[in-house]
Amino acid sequence: MATRLILDTDPGIDDALAILLLAASPEIILEAITVTHGNTTVDKCLANALKLADFAGLQGVPIARGASSPLVKSLTVAEETHGDGGLGYATLPDSKILVSPKSAVDTIIDLVHQYPNEITILAIGPLTNIALAIHKDPSIIKLIDRIVVMGGSIHFPGNMTPDCEYNVFCDPEAFDIVLRAGLDFTLVPLDVTYKCLFTKGHVAKLSDARPAVKTFIEDSTRFYMEFHDEYQSIDGCAINDPLAAAILIKPDLVELRDYYMTIELKGEHTKGKTSVDHYKVLGKPANAKVAMEVDVEGFMDFFIERVKTL
Ligand code: RIB
Ligand code: CA
Repeated sequence: MATRLILDTDPGIDDALAILLLAASPEIILEAITVTHGNTTVDKCLANALKLADFAGLQGVPIARGASSPLVKSLTVAEETHGDGGLGYATLPDSKILVSPKSAVDTIIDLVHQYPNEITILAIGPLTNIALAIHKDPSIIKLIDRIVVMGGSIHFPGNMTPDCEYNVFCDPEAFDIVLRAGLDFTLVPLDVTYKCLFTKGHVAKLSDARPAVKTFIEDSTRFYMEFHDEYQSIDGCAINDPLAAAILIKPDLVELRDYYMTIELKGEHTKGKTSVDHYKVLGKPANAKVAMEVDVEGFMDFFIERVKTL
């Protein structure tokens, strides 16, 4: 059965790859793209989302501008990771798609009411828009089918602080609001996404993709690989967001475990740490499904196979 989806995103190189994957997947009915601050400013992310949607053949999908800053913290961007423009060395033609007149928050609220119990939200950036939508209209909580979040790290080092992953770091208060809301909450953390390293060898497998698609993926990931090499001594680049997108279509790519999860909001050194109660010592019911194992080869093959169809 098709998944009726709202994508909340901060494009962003790996966000861009997730958008290409979703566009290439007939199992997905993309109802809207809502844009948030994150990898760069919301306006640069918005410009990238418009260009990517046009490039990927997503004309007709509403693209809405969201939050320009987190709920409490000041803005964080990651232009050393994604480049000044947010797409690394890649360039795309100007988009013919116009920004939706509706805000991201109202887009989310209206679609959830239009399709009660049918909407999946895939959130691959900071959770500010989702938290604001829940705050503005709490009645959507019971009407959202599920939310899949790329973010957090459980037993894996953080990529922003020793304990904190980037999306969570940007807006930990928003993550806490969404985690506590009582949604059907699935987390795709660094524990699995950092096993999915896209390399030059994977780029070579795109030789028979549409030339513009190959060029975009090659130029965007080349910048991303240079970041991973310089800052994390990693060969390749972790394509975090496409994995979160892929499990909507092929859930068996990951092993989900039910956990009671919390986020630290006060720790001087540990703020943003996402923890799970592995041994159920707190005796609290699970509030999250967390992806802890991944079929790396199966995911990479799926990603490459699908983007070749664009
Ligand atoms: O930590 C990885 C996440 O932060 C990804 O969503 C990436 O796009 C950045 O937003
Ligand atoms: Ca992202």
